[in-house]
Amino acid sequence: MCEPLLSVNRSPKDEEQEGRVSLHDLKPQLADMREEVLAGLAAQPRRIAPKYFYDKRGSELFDAITRLPEYYPTRTEVGILESRLDAIAGMLGRGNVLLEYGSGSSRKIRLLLESLRPLAYLPVDISREHLLGAAEALAVDYTWLEIHAICADYADGLELPWRPPPRAGVDVPITAFFPGSSIGNFERPAAARFLAGVRRTLGRNGQLLVGVDRRKETAALEAAYNDSEGVTAAFNRNVLVHLNRALAGDIDVDAFAHRAHYDEREGRIEMHLVAQRAVSFTLGGESFDVEAGESIHTENSYKYAPEEFRELAAGVGFDSVAEWSDPQAQLSVFLLRAQ
Ligand code: AVJ
Repeated sequence: MCEPLLSVNRSPKDEEQEGRVSLHDLKPQLADMREEVLAGLAAQPRRIAPKYFYDKRGSELFDAITRLPEYYPTRTEVGILESRLDAIAGMLGRGNVLLEYGSGSSRKIRLLLESLRPLAYLPVDISREHLLGAAEALAVDYTWLEIHAICADYADGLELPWRPPPRAGVDVPITAFFPGSSIGNFERPAAARFLAGVRRTLGRNGQLLVGVDRRKETAALEAAYNDSEGVTAAFNRNVLVHLNRALAGDIDVDAFAHRAHYDEREGRIEMHLVAQRAVSFTLGGESFDVEAGESIHTENSYKYAPEEFRELAAGVGFDSVAEWSDPQAQLSVFLLRAQ
């Protein structure tokens, strides 16, 4: 999360200059976090929103997931972006502003930067330290690039804190990048609402390059979320470590086991933390009693058939003008443009 200003050598200003990296901290509220988490844990079935995975450790664990042999999405998407780079860059065009939702380590954007030569890069991420670290590393490697890092919870729609000055009286087009099938974390109607919000944020001539994991056989999907090294299990349980720290809790993390399964009809992977015994804890000043065998639902990861995704996009006024996939049709990268 974008924790309140804890780091020592940063001044508590909304905007900081670090060479060509500026930070725009939209400060997702800690008060909202407490309310949301406590309500989710009190609900039946109990739940925690997946955005809370991404404290510093969680972001590191997610990076480790992307390198696992079983976790095909990252490697597959990178393969598509690399092998189809000329076609993709040709359609996106040069000199735009590049906005990335959920930029994390800003690794995939590197594949596009040289070809697109954007006017500016706007990474958006909820994890402030991860966002800044990634932006600073990028500034070192791409000295020509202007970077506006935005710490925000992008799910509720994003009001851009920086826009490029118009060129010759014309707004510079904004190209958004939403890779990694992160859109799969939204319920299907919420994914549609998110896309509608993106369309509003981008404005005229906006376009969105989005990676979407596809429906496929259960075995391949379940392996990707139940890796043999237990990295996904550690990632899942780390959400409790994060909550303990952020909301002064005493949850016994070891009392919960990682479970992930594919619901074929819903077309989604579900991740849960299952209590291995009765567990009582306090968090954010409230007490909870979880029975043995009860689960806390921590994530849905929705998968899409290509026509299903095109329809979803069309429903909010986006045309799918291009689509690229891998030889095994595991994942698709769509280019959407406002109709
Ligand atoms: C970041 C949401 C795309 O759903 O595959 C990976 C998160 N969770 N392993 C996904 C995740 C467990 C990931 N997304």
